[in-house]
Amino acid sequence: MDKSAPKAIHLKDYAPPPYLIDTVDLTFDLGEEVTRVRSSLQLRANPVRLPDGAPVPLVLDGQELKLVSLAIDGRTLEPAEYAIGPESLTIFDPPAAFALEVETELKPQENTSLEGLYRTSGNFCTQCEAEGFRKITYFLDRPDVMARYRTTITADALKYPVLLSNGNLVAASKMGHDGRHTVTWEDPFAKPCYLFALVAGVLVHVEDSYVTRSGRTVTLRIYVEPGNQDKCDHAMRSLKKSMAWDENVYGLEYDLDIFMIVAVGDFNMGAMENKGLNVFNTKYILARPESATDTDFLGVEAVVAHEYFHNWTGNRVTCRDWFQLSLKEGLTVFRDQEFSSDLNSRPVKRIADVQRLRAAQFPEDSGPMAHPIRPDSYIEINNFYTTTVYEKGAEVVRMIHTLLGAEGYRKGIDLYFERHDGQAVTCDDFVAAMEDATGKDLSQFRRWYSQAGTPELDISGEYDGHGRTYRLTVRQSCPPSPGQPVKQPYHIPLALGLLDPQGADIPLRLKTEDVPKGTSRVLDVTEAEQVFEFADVPAPPVPSLLRGFSAPVKLRMSYTDDDLTFLMANDSDAFNRWEAGQTLGTRLLLGLVEDRAAGRPLELSRGFLDALDKILNDPALDHAFAAQALTLPSEGYLGQQMPVIDVDGIHEVRGFARKAIAAHLRDDLLSTYRALGGNEPFAIDAAIGRRSLKNLALGYLMSLEDAEAVELCVGQFHNAHAMTDVIAALGLLNDTHLPQRDAALARFYETWKNEPLVVDKWFSIQAMSERPETLAEVRSLLNHPAFEIRNPNKVYALIGGFAGGNAVRFHDSSGAGYEFLADQVLTLNGLNPQVASRMVKLFARWRKYDDRRQAFMRAQLERIVGAPNLSPDVFEIASKSLQ
Ligand code: ARG
Ligand code: ZN
Repeated sequence: MDKSAPKAIHLKDYAPPPYLIDTVDLTFDLGEEVTRVRSSLQLRANPVRLPDGAPVPLVLDGQELKLVSLAIDGRTLEPAEYAIGPESLTIFDPPAAFALEVETELKPQENTSLEGLYRTSGNFCTQCEAEGFRKITYFLDRPDVMARYRTTITADALKYPVLLSNGNLVAASKMGHDGRHTVTWEDPFAKPCYLFALVAGVLVHVEDSYVTRSGRTVTLRIYVEPGNQDKCDHAMRSLKKSMAWDENVYGLEYDLDIFMIVAVGDFNMGAMENKGLNVFNTKYILARPESATDTDFLGVEAVVAHEYFHNWTGNRVTCRDWFQLSLKEGLTVFRDQEFSSDLNSRPVKRIADVQRLRAAQFPEDSGPMAHPIRPDSYIEINNFYTTTVYEKGAEVVRMIHTLLGAEGYRKGIDLYFERHDGQAVTCDDFVAAMEDATGKDLSQFRRWYSQAGTPELDISGEYDGHGRTYRLTVRQSCPPSPGQPVKQPYHIPLALGLLDPQGADIPLRLKTEDVPKGTSRVLDVTEAEQVFEFADVPAPPVPSLLRGFSAPVKLRMSYTDDDLTFLMANDSDAFNRWEAGQTLGTRLLLGLVEDRAAGRPLELSRGFLDALDKILNDPALDHAFAAQALTLPSEGYLGQQMPVIDVDGIHEVRGFARKAIAAHLRDDLLSTYRALGGNEPFAIDAAIGRRSLKNLALGYLMSLEDAEAVELCVGQFHNAHAMTDVIAALGLLNDTHLPQRDAALARFYETWKNEPLVVDKWFSIQAMSERPETLAEVRSLLNHPAFEIRNPNKVYALIGGFAGGNAVRFHDSSGAGYEFLADQVLTLNGLNPQVASRMVKLFARWRKYDDRRQAFMRAQLERIVGAPNLSPDVFEIASKSLQ
């Protein structure tokens, strides 16, 4: 690392702020060329750090700002009294308590990072989390500085008729002689600056209201660009359901008179929970059946809930520092997952969440960027909005819920709010509240916060016919991760059941107990090796382990193929029925990858085909569940199970297995398709399951590429009403060389070219085609008039779709895919470091590939690290990947 390499920040160096800010009074003068920000702060020395007053300088954060004036208690400071650095403003000798006035200028129209104050579709918008507020004004930009805000906005009344900020509207002027108008917002709740928001522009809104359980009426508004009002129904309904759910399940009520959401087209992430003024990526608000898929609808519901839930878990109680990010994100993801489970099918949701965890978090946790859910250090905090902090963080909260039970967990949550409302706290404070409310000792459990890596459970079972006992031996281990060569044993909740030979659950009594405790129970695994002995087991059982995926671990158990088909058919735990099929499928497919490598003929096991046959023809099964159970493990998941990922082998073998399944089940797939294929009126309910099973059947049939399947597929593309069905058909055609493919893509574009979110689908479908010409097509799509490199959604669709969603083409042995990605990373680095950093992460797993591919990827990473003007965001990921 050279001298100019950005420095890491460490959790162990945390110190409370030397100064506190009680009130913030902001005035924005929004302009086309220059925006002026006047900030009046009421500051005082922090008694915790400076008990005798203020002997230390005040260092405010600030980036890319032009300082216009600076005054303390009304007196303009002399140049000798302060210093401006590239990222700070230091006031050398401030009094113990004072009013600071800072006037700065900035140019939001030149801000392509989409952090701080920026322009989107001609409007003004902010994104301050994590450290964007320092691009708006000089400030103590850290979450443990909480203040009350008053925000005044002045702007051209015609160009910016709508002026929004946090809290309640307290004043609004009519247009003056200068054509400008002014509004003032006041937020009564103290908050950290990362929750500040401002929006100004031409926006329309839909309005509704919600009466809280204590009888207060809250105005609900969703602001969108004109023309999108008709796409807000689902988001509004989701918001009201979220408000009701949080009252019922957590006893938490909304606290302001108005709750506003603004949807913008240019946004780095999914959405942001600014107090009273959530800002969303349009992708998670706009939805109509013709233009959004079922997945999109579920995404809107989940993200609206997530941001709403942050009002308590994140805003009312916030993070002391950014190492504690999982305090709010893990908890809030767990809350939105449970919300979606309560509204929809619980097992189907759990399966989807676990698939996501395995697809993204497990690889992260075993690669060069592995970090605990509470990281120890970072260079750029934006790089730590990771699937580990979010999704593994949610699993950790879920385990607490499992260990304490729903009632104990609720007691813990109640105590957490009782103690910490209005504070900025730590993950440890959260765990302590859970312990103190229930008396449960979570000291060992805390290792989930400090250790990285995915623990592995090795379980073996032994039946003793004489003693009618069944012994389970459980061993746990966790592989090393960067900076953590050795791991201490975790406290793991192991939910399990034992199935008798008829498939029924056996009552579970440990030898040390007098009476059985149910037929499904949670064991506390705490040792490196531990034995659990069950009594009164009448015959050799088949264990159903880690029910509901009770811990984010990898499980190894020596099941026979027959055990797995037995569990697929009989387990009372739906998640484990699905899991057994995935385990069997993984085993068989990996065997085929070896067969292929050894030049042996490929053949799919008869038993597996029969098991799939049973699922497809089981009328009692939920359709969505059946679709998940009939889906083979993904290429990515299969790759994770190999020491060296055989990209081509996996792709070919999985394709082969799909064809073999389709050929074996062809008639049943056809009749399933026909039975479910009616063009039914759209609804977000059981119809989602019907559509997924129907499209699963169509996918298998299309793998045969016979005339009948193609006709059904083309017919569905042309006639379907729901976007889910249109996209499913288009995605299948997209992998073929049929003449109908190009025609369908062209028609789709013509139909939807004015809907940016649908055009994103068009880009990503093409980027994910398995056809050999895909990279060339992706390159030429970069020049398509609808592609904009400054728009994150477009980048994620086209570049992300190719490099992250098309293993066989991205990892082409020529290395051309790697060069393409590195080119894009370097372009994006200068425009939007956060987006560039998300793209460079796609190289992080380079060591999992063969030597030739490793050499190519390494060369591109080195090229990136050596590039001039590298952002800390990209530098951190690229350099850590090479370590
Ligand atoms: N707190 C937001 C959420 O999870 C995420 C915003 C993160 N943005 C960022 N640029 N790091 O809902
Ligand atoms: Zn969040």
